[in-house]
Amino acid sequence: MRREVVLITGAAGEMGQALIEHLAESGIRNILALDVNPIPKPLRARCQLAIQGDILDEALFGRLVSEYAIPLIYHLAALLSTRAEFTPEVAHHVNVDGTLNLLKLAVDQSGWLGRPVKFIFPSSVAVYGLPDLETKAREGRVKEWQWNIPATMYGCNKLYGEHLGRYYMRHYRQLAAEPASHGVDFRAIRFPGLISAFTTPTGGTSDYGPEMLHHAAKGEPYRCFVREDTRMPFMAMPDAIKALLLLERAPRERLTSHVYNVTSFNPSAGEILAEVRAAFPAAQVTFEPDTKRQAIVDSWPVDQDDSLARRDWGWQPDYDQRRAFDEYLVPNIRRRYEAVGTGAK
Ligand code: SER
Repeated sequence: MRREVVLITGAAGEMGQALIEHLAESGIRNILALDVNPIPKPLRARCQLAIQGDILDEALFGRLVSEYAIPLIYHLAALLSTRAEFTPEVAHHVNVDGTLNLLKLAVDQSGWLGRPVKFIFPSSVAVYGLPDLETKAREGRVKEWQWNIPATMYGCNKLYGEHLGRYYMRHYRQLAAEPASHGVDFRAIRFPGLISAFTTPTGGTSDYGPEMLHHAAKGEPYRCFVREDTRMPFMAMPDAIKALLLLERAPRERLTSHVYNVTSFNPSAGEILAEVRAAFPAAQVTFEPDTKRQAIVDSWPVDQDDSLARRDWGWQPDYDQRRAFDEYLVPNIRRRYEAVGTGAK
């Protein structure tokens, strides 16, 4: 018999690490972690198996299928929005072809298991593209179906990933004499920018939020690459994990969409700095907008309307801005850098 495991791609990334920690703490250890980068040792210890490998490596998937039954996939691996703009074709390959490989794996697994494989896909605020700042201000909170005109390769890839998932769930091989009886139970969440106390992001465009905070905590100066008045939605990492788990556990019949917005608070960059200064008064932050990265954030909405997620699967964040900074971010970041002795006060 093949062992049942939960497959997590992008396991060494920010969300992957937080998800694995959370699952392991709640006693779920049958985790098959996959990442193209080395998976940190403490994290490996929390998994049944941790593999350094590429989601584009179909031979690797072939081997996994022969050994493991996979009823649940968290496909977290992706190249984020800033990084993707430097190598758009590589980003497409990883973000789209990689997702396709995972969806094929899911269909194949569902055939073996005789039930649908759950496929949880983090999408992003980057799927939205507003043409200018007046429209951004006027539109305010956007709903899932509005302004799906992304300005980045990453946004295009995530939007298409959502459609691929919907296709595999509803229409896969629709002309076959005998349509697949099981298939993929695809569920996507459009996350805002995420802020973790324990890790920092790489290659995103919302990175100015977490970077400002982590630099201040370490006592390092920070040059913020967007204007002070730049506004977009954010969320504390524990709420991102909560959203993934809530959506995964939601009864299928309650879900009226293949994709859901979630959000928590939406400070301007200046307001993030005010929070950072309240905790670390010596913070040295200057605003030196990079016009190109600024344009990316300017194309993202000021907020996302998450009423559909609230209605269908009872979503609500635990951490508003106050709680996020006072109870999660600041105390944990302070402890973290004090422990490694950066001299931060
Ligand atoms: N945090 C992501 C990025 O900046 C948005 O999903 O690319």
